[in-house]
Amino acid sequence: MIKAALIGCGRISPLHIVSIKRIKEAELAAVCDIKEERAENTAKEHNCKYYTDYKEMLLKERPDVVHICTPHHLHHEMTVFAAELGIHVITEKPMSISYEEAKSMVKSCKSNNVTLSVMFQNRFNRAVRFLRKEMLNGNLGKPLAARVIVTWNRSDEYYSHSGWKGTWDKEGGGVVIDQAIHSLDLVRYITGKKPLKVEANILNRRHNSIEVEDMAEGVIECEDNFTVSFYTMNYFTCDLPIDITFHCEKGIASILGDEGIILYEDGRRTSIPLLEEDKIDYGNNIKKYWGYYHFIEIKNIYENIQNNSSVEVSGEDALITQELINAIYQSGKTKEKVTLTLGK
Ligand SMILES: NC(=O)c1ccc[n+]([C@@H]2O[C@H](COP(=O)([O-])OP(=O)(O)OC[C@H]3O[C@@H](n4cnc5c(N)ncnc54)[C@H](O)[C@@H]3O)[C@@H](O)[C@H]2O)c1
Repeated sequence: MIKAALIGCGRISPLHIVSIKRIKEAELAAVCDIKEERAENTAKEHNCKYYTDYKEMLLKERPDVVHICTPHHLHHEMTVFAAELGIHVITEKPMSISYEEAKSMVKSCKSNNVTLSVMFQNRFNRAVRFLRKEMLNGNLGKPLAARVIVTWNRSDEYYSHSGWKGTWDKEGGGVVIDQAIHSLDLVRYITGKKPLKVEANILNRRHNSIEVEDMAEGVIECEDNFTVSFYTMNYFTCDLPIDITFHCEKGIASILGDEGIILYEDGRRTSIPLLEEDKIDYGNNIKKYWGYYHFIEIKNIYENIQNNSSVEVSGEDALITQELINAIYQSGKTKEKVTLTLGK
């Protein structure tokens, strides 16, 4: 049996808790939140213990694995504390707010011989996996370019309910690090191409109440002359399906929200829909749009922990996306092209 604990009983936590409870070999021992009422209510609902101090919880409970669902700036210290106790870590995206801290998380987990895995659950979408397979087995030829469009809605009200979202020191940015990170990660996952250089603009256009960007656009130069152009903002009137379109030597392939479409150069057309069986019910009021796949990723991590094998989204792998995100901010702030180190 894998003993689990969770830190941060906020909006994303039910997806983790429901996932843990669906795994036969796992038990949720305890949850923690600095807001006692949240921790207590979550513990009552899920029949486990609760704490308001994460260090006390980890020291007393000694779980095998901890799920970190807290504000971004806390992922680093919580990961390092858990790793030093020999506890495997599953952290929500982004790994951290800085590349340096993310590197230190990887180092700490490695030296303490524990797994570090990051929630990029959209890598487990049916359409994403199909496109990746087609791309990597050569059926689409070389990828030449990708276009990424994320036009979502995060209202002033969304930001006003949070003490950390919309701030540089706690969220680490806005639409790029919080929303577009999934789509930017998917481009690399689907093509296998590492980013080398980035040139970006970041702006706050429509959110007076926050200090971070709500719009970003730019170009990412990747290995093998593959280029990614992105446009992302969170002041649209609704969450439109994300649009990632690849121009490849032998066709055009798109991810549109949960669906995939491939137009091969020989005229064949394949579509990969979201199936009923892919829709996981996480309970009432839990998000029903893009990003159903927490359960699949978490189940996969638990299996790998049990078998002592490598997870699909390891800390080392997620570090490349973290460096890209921080490079977008650096370029946006300095107005200069930024060279990444991990792509080399
Ligand atoms: N993978 C996804 O699709 C997805 C979607 C939404 C959020 N997230 C990520 O999940 C994480 C949490 O986001 P959220 O929307 O649930 O935020 P939230 O603000 O709703 O919840 C965070 C919780 O952490 C608690 N907390 C803060 N400091 C703490 C501490 N020191 N010890 C214990 N608890 C503490 C807060 O009280 C709050 O309940 C973020 O990293 C976010 O980016 C991921």
